[in-house]
Amino acid sequence: MSSDFIETLDLRGKVVFVAGGTSGINLGIAEDFARAGANIAVQSRSQDKVDATVADLKEFGVAAFGAAADVRDYAATEEALATAADALGPIDVLISGAAGNFPVAALNMSANAFKSVVDIDLLGTFNVLRAGYQFLRRPGASVINISAPQSELPTITQAHVCAAKAGVDMLTRTLALEWGPSGVRVNAVIPGPIDGTEGMTRLAPTDEARELVTSSVPLRRYGTPRDVANVCRFLASPLASYVTGVVLPADGGWVLGGAAQTMGVIGAPLMEPKQG
Ligand code: NAP
Ligand code: COA
Repeated sequence: MSSDFIETLDLRGKVVFVAGGTSGINLGIAEDFARAGANIAVQSRSQDKVDATVADLKEFGVAAFGAAADVRDYAATEEALATAADALGPIDVLISGAAGNFPVAALNMSANAFKSVVDIDLLGTFNVLRAGYQFLRRPGASVINISAPQSELPTITQAHVCAAKAGVDMLTRTLALEWGPSGVRVNAVIPGPIDGTEGMTRLAPTDEARELVTSSVPLRRYGTPRDVANVCRFLASPLASYVTGVVLPADGGWVLGGAAQTMGVIGAPLMEPKQG
């Protein structure tokens, strides 16, 4: 066997920071990195959610750290990253996954509603990465942004998310160019419809909507947080040491077309014009 053959995805001793890591997909990612032995820091707005997540992650026998901070606030985010790096060491894997979403037709969306999602998803990702760079292990660190099918597929009732996540994908590619020479890889993952999450509960709240989603996924099932976490662990590992600037779906094939079609049907009742 050649000496550069990589046998495992063992991440013992690595430091992983997950912005938005206290629920849903991002929590699943944090837990799977902890299962693989990494020490984890999480950031989200709610101190209660941060505390519960830190306690949960410590159950895996790793070091865990949490900070309550809004990704829209650059200074607070920088402080969260600084204290995490102080507690755990230089960051090997920086994951940006905080997001907001609510389905609403553009003509019923206030400018502030559009701004709130763009600020969380896109500006928030810029803040996490811009503030996080100084704390990354260089060379060797890996950045993973959590994107969405809406970044590639125009989707009715999702103008804010489509615009924000398309920006996240371009930020991914741009920073891969700028940071590659420092030995920092920057990639993104597009989760498909993930079961039991806040995001899919908001987008497909009824049994009929769920069935429509399932039938529009080529692999004919909802995904799990682990489906996404597996791809993140691959991207963070030496197996992906020559991979940067990619936006990789973990979606059962949903971005091939099903996502936009499905949201068109589910979102149709929300397209009534605004009164007045
Ligand atoms: P979720 O459970 O609502 O998780 C969102 C996380 O972000 C929470 O930890 C939340 O905690 C945090 N957060 C929200 N706003 C924040 C802010 N302003 N500052 C800091 N933290 C903030 O969502 P999810 O459905 O699992 O989605 C997770 C990610 O996957 C998102 O990036 C989403 O766009 C993407 N995605 C999801 C799906 C899906 O099927 N659910 C599909 C495609 C892509 P606090 O409330 O404590 O702030
Ligand atoms: N339909 C239309 N507009 C809505 C809305 C909805 N369902 N929910 C919120 N808004 C509007 C508000 O009315 C407000 O606009 P206005 O000032 O013109 O009235 C604007 O969006 C901001 O709302 P606010 O509640 O102040 O924002 P926030 O910063 O406290 O919360 C959200 C951000 C709205 C994205 C909130 O849903 C959230 O915290 N989401 C995180 C969890 C999540 O969305 N998970 C799924 C991830 S994919």
